Amino acid sequence: MHFVNTFTGICKYCVTPKNGLTHAQRMDALYRDRAGDFDATRDRFQPGRKELFEMLPIREGGVWVDLGAGTAANFEFLGDRLSTLAKVYLIEPAASLRAIAYERITRLGWRNAELIDGDALSFDSAIGAADVVTMSYSLAMIVPWLAALEQAERLLRPGGVIGVVEYHASSKHSWLTRRLSIWCHQLWEVFPDPEHLPCLHTRFAVQHFRESAIPTLIPGLQFPYFVFIGTKPLEEQSR
Ligand SMILES: C[S@@+](CC[C@H](N)C(=O)[O-])C[C@H]1O[C@@H](n2cnc3c(N)ncnc32)[C@H](O)[C@@H]1O
Repeated sequence: MHFVNTFTGICKYCVTPKNGLTHAQRMDALYRDRAGDFDATRDRFQPGRKELFEMLPIREGGVWVDLGAGTAANFEFLGDRLSTLAKVYLIEPAASLRAIAYERITRLGWRNAELIDGDALSFDSAIGAADVVTMSYSLAMIVPWLAALEQAERLLRPGGVIGVVEYHASSKHSWLTRRLSIWCHQLWEVFPDPEHLPCLHTRFAVQHFRESAIPTLIPGLQFPYFVFIGTKPLEEQSR
């Protein structure tokens, strides 16, 4: 049954038209027909999110920016700690996912959460003020990804923390794993880049780093992913 559900889900995803004039329209076209199933499929296809959100530090009165928030489900991992934050900015360009996020925020009474219809690259309300910036499986969807990391760096205060969980494909993986992983993810508008990790390690002081892989139904095919937590250097430590 699990196999059938997974297979039909993948087929439905592959035939979904992913067109649109703007990036936001493309993202919405990608998710519109399956926004209702979105949360149910996350644990299987995008692990590491709970680990990331539970490990990130929460400062009372702090500011958290989530770039590519989806349905905002990850913030349920914070439990009561969420209410101690002064502000949570949730940036999400896809209208269908924002609708679910809005319903969640209202239902759970997250008064400090602000859902923003926008793009990670143009959100500048919290420049230099964020204690935490997260990108949970959104870095590889943002083109150009380097600009997204630079934006995250600008948003963080010195000493602030970045948390990223993302698919991964580097030279340490076999040629077949790399090619199949990159090819499969492209169908979902996801572009894992071998430079993601070196760039994160260069720009931020590592606090936590773990690599693993998601087994698939195809023997030998895995989707590698990583969880990274790093600190923006204080001014005097900046390179
Ligand atoms: C795979 S989903 C992950 C959603 C959520 N972070 C999670 O972990 O469940 C990636 C999200 O990134 C969003 N996204 C894609 N491009 C973006 C951009 N340029 N700026 C902000 N978000 C973006 C997509 O709309 C989508 O909601």
